[in-house]
Amino acid sequence: MSARTSLLGIGDLSPDDIARILGTAERFGAVMERDIKKVPTLRGRTVVNLFLEPSTRTSTSFELAAKRLSADVVSIRGSGTSMEKGETLKDTILTLEAYGPDVFVIRHPQVGACALAGRYTDAAVINAGDGAGEHPTQALLDLYTVQHEVGSPDGLHIAIVGDVLHSRVARSGLRAFRMMGARVTVVAPPTLVPRHLGEAFGVEVSSDIRDIADADVVYVLRMQLERMGEGGFVPSLEEYARMYQVNHARLRPGQRVMHAGPVNRGVEISGAVVDGSDALIEAQAANGLVVRMAVLYDVLAGAASEPGTGDMALEAA
Ligand code: CP
Repeated sequence: MSARTSLLGIGDLSPDDIARILGTAERFGAVMERDIKKVPTLRGRTVVNLFLEPSTRTSTSFELAAKRLSADVVSIRGSGTSMEKGETLKDTILTLEAYGPDVFVIRHPQVGACALAGRYTDAAVINAGDGAGEHPTQALLDLYTVQHEVGSPDGLHIAIVGDVLHSRVARSGLRAFRMMGARVTVVAPPTLVPRHLGEAFGVEVSSDIRDIADADVVYVLRMQLERMGEGGFVPSLEEYARMYQVNHARLRPGQRVMHAGPVNRGVEISGAVVDGSDALIEAQAANGLVVRMAVLYDVLAGAASEPGTGDMALEAA
């Protein structure tokens, strides 16, 4: 990325871009170990977080990331804004543009909404999840977590289990894991796998849960009930759980388990696995902070400078 470009999907990044962002996240991780965790890196910059679909992890970590970098932050939720009175996304962006934001962080229920928003602003746009489209910062924090907790993704075997069809986490994650050299096996009922997924992404596709057996990491996807409409994708949640739930009977000791959250305990994953020592779910949430600090830095300041010469202003603010 060059400075002030947007991050709409993982395809906007090269492997070098990803390595640079994860390296920056490492440096911010060291800052977060200090007593004073705030740095002046983005002082004078304005970040607008526009979350028009529910979020806990992404919204909280982006807000805290911007504050730790000393940016001015405005956080807006769908409820309580003029969008409830019928204002369009275009008019909301044009209105907020009047306050001179440097970056919009946007979550929206429609695929492509972040790209649309980018047409009406000079600010960078970061996709914080657009419907079943993409969730690139989730993929980056997942790579960071794998790198820290398991090892280099290059050559690792990652099994992605569940509702790929409706999952922006899967769409970004598949691309990112493949880009960084991982072998990926998708395990799901055929009704929850997009057609031609295997050829398009270079992944193996299976409908047999036993195919998670030799994976280093099992990445469990939430059943996206809110995107399934009248259903018909699985006979029932009970049947889905019986066939595909990731639980200790299906895992080897030491097999690491990831889930972007929020989890449906007892549906796609058992509560015992969520709470078990092989789960990386809390680490994923924690790593969201430094990875999103790195993404904000990268879109606003980082890529403008030559590698290794960027002034990250890491003294305490
Ligand atoms: N993983 C994720 O995007 O979580 P939230 O919906 O809580 O932001």
